[in-house]
Amino acid sequence: MAVPVGIAGIAHYVPDRVIDNEYFTRFVDTSDEWIRQRSGIRQRRWLADDQATSDMFVAAGAKALERAGVAPEEVDLIVAGTVSPDYLFPAAACLVQDRLGCVHAAAFDLSAACPGFLYALSTGAQFIAAGTCRNVLVLGGEALSRMIDLKDRSSCVLFGDGAGAAVLQPHADCGQGRIEDIFLGTDGSGAELIIRRYGGSRHPLTPEVLERGDHCLRMKGREVYRFAVEKMTELMAWAMKDQDPKELGWVVPHQVNARILDTATERLDIPPEKVVVNIDRYGNTSAASIPIILSELWEAGRLESGKFLVLAAFGAGLTWAGARIRW
Ligand code: ACO
Repeated sequence: MAVPVGIAGIAHYVPDRVIDNEYFTRFVDTSDEWIRQRSGIRQRRWLADDQATSDMFVAAGAKALERAGVAPEEVDLIVAGTVSPDYLFPAAACLVQDRLGCVHAAAFDLSAACPGFLYALSTGAQFIAAGTCRNVLVLGGEALSRMIDLKDRSSCVLFGDGAGAAVLQPHADCGQGRIEDIFLGTDGSGAELIIRRYGGSRHPLTPEVLERGDHCLRMKGREVYRFAVEKMTELMAWAMKDQDPKELGWVVPHQVNARILDTATERLDIPPEKVVVNIDRYGNTSAASIPIILSELWEAGRLESGKFLVLAAFGAGLTWAGARIRW
């Protein structure tokens, strides 16, 4: 990158409401044991009825700015990765811009599903690298609890709500979290595998659609599973290529399914203690899962200077992204 880019501050927010696995037995034929064994999830957080995605972005964003020592009016750009914004339009990033008082910032959302944070990170980093911006607030967050079908046991148990935020600056200004490389990829031929088909311009909402629950997300879990193992392995291998394994800090994978993460990391002989997993507490929070982990590592003082992080995610689109960040 023309100007090296760093992460000056990072933070996250998860709602207070805890949903355990037993909750789903009220709606579908499932069990705590099945969910834990097949996905690794013990519980997830869901928004309160009066909360929305931008509320989580505001909470995480304010904390990230404070940690970076950046005032809201110093922010030049806000980029939010989300497929569950408050409204179809305007963008959630616009609501955040107003509520945080980022009076000099342009703001937009981008839709890249689970790798949304990495897509936003890459986009924000380009503005810093080009010298166009000095402070960029990057957000990744979802409220997938608002679009699950409680009659579909194969998908409703998987998702949680949450958000993460990172403040990007020229690396020379913040001296940490240098983004060494980011890779983005897409294969739109897999669009049908994870899709929210109704409610857009092709199939507007009708009472019949709502009655059938077709406004909810649909997923072909088995096909996605196979793709996920291959893609996550490939992305992690790419991010670690030509690196000294002794300098590996953490592997930070999108939290999709504990079994997928185990298989991918075993294939690459990555020691399990280097792989950060919190799907047991939060489920799959889509675009929020990677920044939530980064923020928890930062809060625990576990981001070691000089060590590198491997980030990898895939999701609806199909989209995928990998990154290597040197702390
Ligand atoms: N409780 C009990 N049984 C269930 C449940 C449940 N919650 N869900 C599915 N089953 C049943 C199925 O009906 C099936 O029964 P059958 O054999 O009688 O047909 C059986 O369990 C096995 O189903 P599989 O789909 O083969 O189960 P699998 O072990 O693959 O686990 C899972 C399913 C957890 C969905 C897994 O496939 C997975 O994690 N896939 C990836 C999901 C994913 O990556 N989503 C990502 C992106 S989301 C985004 O981008 C927004």
